Amino acid sequence: MDLYLAGKTVIVTGGGSNIGRSIVLTFAAEGANIVIADMDAVQGQKVAREADDLGGKAIAIKTDVTNLESVADMVKKSLDEFGKLDVLVNNVGGTIDQLFMEKPRADMEKDVKLNFWGFINTTRAVLDHMTEQKYGKIISIGSDAGKMGEYREAVYAGCKGGIIAMSKSLARELGRYGINVNVVCPGLTVPDSPEQTGELSMWKGPMAQAFTPELREKAARAYPLRRIGKPEDVASMVVFLASDRASFITGQTISVSGGYTMM
Ligand SMILES: NC(=O)c1ccc[n+]([C@@H]2O[C@H](COP(=O)([O-])OP(=O)(O)OC[C@H]3O[C@@H](n4cnc5c(N)ncnc54)[C@H](O)[C@@H]3O)[C@@H](O)[C@H]2O)c1
Repeated sequence: MDLYLAGKTVIVTGGGSNIGRSIVLTFAAEGANIVIADMDAVQGQKVAREADDLGGKAIAIKTDVTNLESVADMVKKSLDEFGKLDVLVNNVGGTIDQLFMEKPRADMEKDVKLNFWGFINTTRAVLDHMTEQKYGKIISIGSDAGKMGEYREAVYAGCKGGIIAMSKSLARELGRYGINVNVVCPGLTVPDSPEQTGELSMWKGPMAQAFTPELREKAARAYPLRRIGKPEDVASMVVFLASDRASFITGQTISVSGGYTMM
């Protein structure tokens, strides 16, 4: 099925690592122009070259999504390079699991800044262009934690729930401009190898140590499909929603989590 994504311009925040990387490579295989907006410039460049090899045209722009100026600069450079923006994938996010009662205030603020303000900053930054051209797709990576809550992820789940609610509101506000706004919620999606993650990836820190092969196997048993996710599971859904094949879908939250949540 042709998704008609060749020549479309796509921004993927956090596109250097794990799920974001796979989203970039899947768009590349469709012949899209891709901006990897990642704080890790080295990893961003590495994935951009992988994307070029697959038939896309990719650039990496060092971006901090929590910083409005950095985001505005990235959007300007993207427009200078490709002349238009068709798709924004808000992929940056993450947390270090900890009980709410034990999480230091500074870490809570960090979670909100990264997971919620990052989403608000990039979304706002592309809208002047997308409303003017009367076309756009905004796909944000949520989490099943934002739908049903998750133990030791209270603040993160709150942010992801915020992304879901705000995306529905934006879908109502922006539909008249031809802009679709949807959320994709991965389940547990652990990278296969360290090569697929950048230095800032949450899978390079304590989360990687916590998710031992034994724990991954145990987690898989909680999924009706009896496995945990692969980055490409999520990427396929994102790329479909970015295409005009999904032009009548907006305001939706779709879990790609092997049946872990059904709501
Ligand atoms: N992996 C999972 O199990 C899982 C499950 C549910 C939801 N999610 C969500 O999926 C998304 C991607 O997860 P992942 O596991 O691929 O993440 P990851 O930690 O492997 O990668 C995150 C990427 O974002 C970049 N980044 C970090 N801070 C940034 C900033 N301020 N500005 C720009 N870039 C920044 C990092 O350099 C890295 O390349 C996140 O939103 C996450 O919450 C992941």
